[in-house]
Amino acid sequence: MKVGFVGLGKLGLPTALAIESKGHTVMGCDPAPGVGRILRTRKLAYREAGAQELLRKSRLRLVPLARVARDSDIIFVTIQTPHRPAFEGSTRLPAERRDFDYRPLQSGLKTLSAEVEKLGRDRIVVVVSTVLPGTTRRELLPVLGPHCRLCYNPFFIAMGTAIKDFLDPEFVLCGVSDERAADTAQRFYRSIHRAPFYRTSIDNAELIKVVYNTFISTKIAFANTVLELCHKLPGADADVVLDALALCRDRIISAKYLRGGMGDGGACHPRDNIALSHLARELDLSFDWFEAVMRQREKGTEWLADLVELHRKGRDVVILGKSFKAESTILTGSPALLLASILEERGLKPLLWDPYVDAPSPPPSGRPFCYVIGTRHPDFRSFAFERGSVVLDPWRYVAGRKGVEVVGIGRG
Ligand SMILES: NC(=O)c1ccc[n+]([C@@H]2O[C@H](COP(=O)([O-])OP(=O)(O)OC[C@H]3O[C@@H](n4cnc5c(N)ncnc54)[C@H](O)[C@@H]3O)[C@@H](O)[C@H]2O)c1
Repeated sequence: MKVGFVGLGKLGLPTALAIESKGHTVMGCDPAPGVGRILRTRKLAYREAGAQELLRKSRLRLVPLARVARDSDIIFVTIQTPHRPAFEGSTRLPAERRDFDYRPLQSGLKTLSAEVEKLGRDRIVVVVSTVLPGTTRRELLPVLGPHCRLCYNPFFIAMGTAIKDFLDPEFVLCGVSDERAADTAQRFYRSIHRAPFYRTSIDNAELIKVVYNTFISTKIAFANTVLELCHKLPGADADVVLDALALCRDRIISAKYLRGGMGDGGACHPRDNIALSHLARELDLSFDWFEAVMRQREKGTEWLADLVELHRKGRDVVILGKSFKAESTILTGSPALLLASILEERGLKPLLWDPYVDAPSPPPSGRPFCYVIGTRHPDFRSFAFERGSVVLDPWRYVAGRKGVEVVGIGRG
């Protein structure tokens, strides 16, 4: 394929070289003098594994934007989305919070679009730059003409290993606004590797890109909490402790527990976190991670209570499920009971019913309710909800049905 790049910076140039190494013809444009110098001298100004060798034998040249638009089957846009140095994390966390600056990306897309519209032919424009969710819809699609068929395809690459990461990724993420453009992008990636091609909406893709990164930050923050604990606990060794967790490929280093729903529960987890929060105070830990985890659980449950208040519209509340997990009778540490107690604080009198705990006595009936699925018992999928009811489903597993409004929590 003929592949164009708009932006040949630290992301664009190594990936352009990687694509060329797979036999594609690559061209690009970038006004930065530094990029021109790299391509003229064939000397990279930064360290990127494997890039220097590829650059030496590369035929990649800078061409005018009009040519990128005219000659490329697919055009990757890897323009910067910068922020001020205060937001880089090299200094203390600022009080202010800011979005990225989308002006360079918007302006680059606008000029690219003008060239594409001059041609009057469809072009596949693949935006790679990192943006916050909602940006493409709000800031990027409006500057593109009808011949720009857009995909949002952020790369999951790390600086220093960009080429390897691009050629051998965990997956390719494709936010789709145009199915045919996504088909072409998928065909292109099939020429590079066999990694899964994950198609989703642009809004989802924007979010996946940034939460991927914050997941890594979360792991590091957790590991560093363990590090400090171990430093302050005589006889403990952070590497030994974390190596043990790394062995747990079923429950911990896996997709398990990676589903939104009710909070964590049971006879061990909440109480362990609370005990560890005590230890954090005893040891004067610099940050009480365990309290933060429990606060999220409590705040998240308060938010569910807000949703109940929003949706109940005068109906009595029924929490379906009392036990802390599916198909269990154990009530200790149950997030469903926490929700009930928060609703009671607010003056509501939720009714609770759990087939594993209360049957054979029947569930509340005879009028419309505001149901909340407090425990993911399989039984509730086919539960006979009263007509005129609303069902708040944190698990998104109850199918919609006539006469009942089902609100799948977590679907915007
Ligand atoms: N560097 C990485 O490893 C990495 C990884 C994942 C995502 N990202 C994201 O990718 C985007 C680019 O990152 P980067 O590190 O390559 O930035 P960069 O600043 O190194 O490169 C951006 C390049 O785009 C060029 N450019 C700007 N406007 C242009 C235009 N109108 N036409 C052509 N070229 C133009 C700039 O001159 C610059 O060379 C950012 O959104 C970043 O967050 C970067």
